Amino acid sequence: MAMSGAAELLVPAQGQATEPRSVTVLGCTGSVGCNTIDMIERDPGAYRVEALTAHGNVDLLIEQARRLKPRLAVTGKEENFAKLKAGLAGTGIEVAAGRAAVIEAAERPAQWVMASIVGAAGLEPTLAAVRRGAMIGLANKETLVCAGALMMKEVAQSGSIMLPVDSEHSAIFQVFDFERREAIEKIILTASGGPFRTKTVAEMAEMTPAQAVAHPNWSMGAKISVDSASMMNKGLELIEAYHLFGLPENQIEILVHPQSVIHSMVAYRDGSVLAQLGTPDMRTPIAYALGWPKRIDAPSARLDFAKISQFTFEAPDPERFPALRLARESLKAGGRAPTILNAANEIAVAAFLDNGLRFTDIAAVVEAVLGRLPAGVLSSIADVLETDAAAREAAREEVAARRRNAA
Ligand SMILES: NC(=O)c1ccc[n+]([C@@H]2O[C@H](COP(=O)([O-])OP(=O)(O)OC[C@H]3O[C@@H](n4cnc5c(N)ncnc54)[C@H](OP(=O)(O)O)[C@@H]3O)[C@@H](O)[C@H]2O)c1
Repeated sequence: MAMSGAAELLVPAQGQATEPRSVTVLGCTGSVGCNTIDMIERDPGAYRVEALTAHGNVDLLIEQARRLKPRLAVTGKEENFAKLKAGLAGTGIEVAAGRAAVIEAAERPAQWVMASIVGAAGLEPTLAAVRRGAMIGLANKETLVCAGALMMKEVAQSGSIMLPVDSEHSAIFQVFDFERREAIEKIILTASGGPFRTKTVAEMAEMTPAQAVAHPNWSMGAKISVDSASMMNKGLELIEAYHLFGLPENQIEILVHPQSVIHSMVAYRDGSVLAQLGTPDMRTPIAYALGWPKRIDAPSARLDFAKISQFTFEAPDPERFPALRLARESLKAGGRAPTILNAANEIAVAAFLDNGLRFTDIAAVVEAVLGRLPAGVLSSIADVLETDAAAREAAREEVAARRRNAA
């Protein structure tokens, strides 16, 4: 990613009036989506909303569309079309429904697109925005996990700009010297350790969905909260960082930092370590991406260093958190392995949230599916979608087998 040329084009000369930035929010009803809408509404004159897309939460989509007046509002669920149409009747806002409509929304000409759909469902819409060269606020890490090399190739071809929204990757992006990457020794990806950081495996086996989603520092959607509890989230972020920053896997270290203030670091060959710090509020990394290359105001609480009593760090424990090992092994195996890891994890997490799988069986299901399907080579997006479907099917079988054994 060479940033300087693009930045010159995007930063207006002093005194020059700026046109509102046209934006689309994919996954507008989720945790990241709502925080993005909050940021847009704080400075409405700075943005023109092209499209908003949601999935099941039509009521919230209608509310948001009535306030932000996008040109297009889309629900991913076809059965919600009539409700959406009725809810926006008389507003002049175009409405559409279904998976293809979400992809078409991403194709519409917004300069900036927030990719905040959860899971591999975000792959095709994000890709559609990448292919037309949009700036992407990338929250949807699963997109890079399941199709990273193919996606980054498309980014290079289209001239699209990937602006990471994951707080860790936003931190790295801010301190990573893209012009002198040979000076970089390693990336240090920090992790809170999640709500089960100090639990034993036996204790974790008894944890409920409500306990797993109660993250100590961050308020997030259910899937990523469970991923944080299992530390699969950090595994997915390892793979995301590998694709975004192009460093070998053994130059990306994971470090537990329970306070979630240092969002990540880059260590240089001369011994310097550069970090980005902030309170745990997603509106800071969202603001960084939304305003890029300018810095814009965000309402996040400010750090008060005099009140921070301590920063602590510890090495992650791959014995208690096997998802970390599985993610690193998948990255090393390459090919289809990360796609399989991601899809199996999505099914296992959904089963856990549905009270149909023990917490500790999430990683067991992922490991079993990785053992069943060959890593091979990932050659195309069609291949990603096929691999994703096969891994989901295998994961459903593994979940069903564990349910039968538990009954
Ligand atoms: N939450 C955070 O603080 C955070 C931080 C860093 C990274 N991320 C990443 O950002 C992404 C979103 O996370 P989140 O916590 O915001 O998730 P979330 O609260 O569950 O929201 C997910 C969004 O995606 C939509 N959606 C779900 N399934 C869909 C489908 N099949 N097709 C189209 N849209 C679909 C949902 O629509 P409905 O609600 O209308 O059903 C919702 O708008 C994830 O990849 C996560 O890893 C999140």
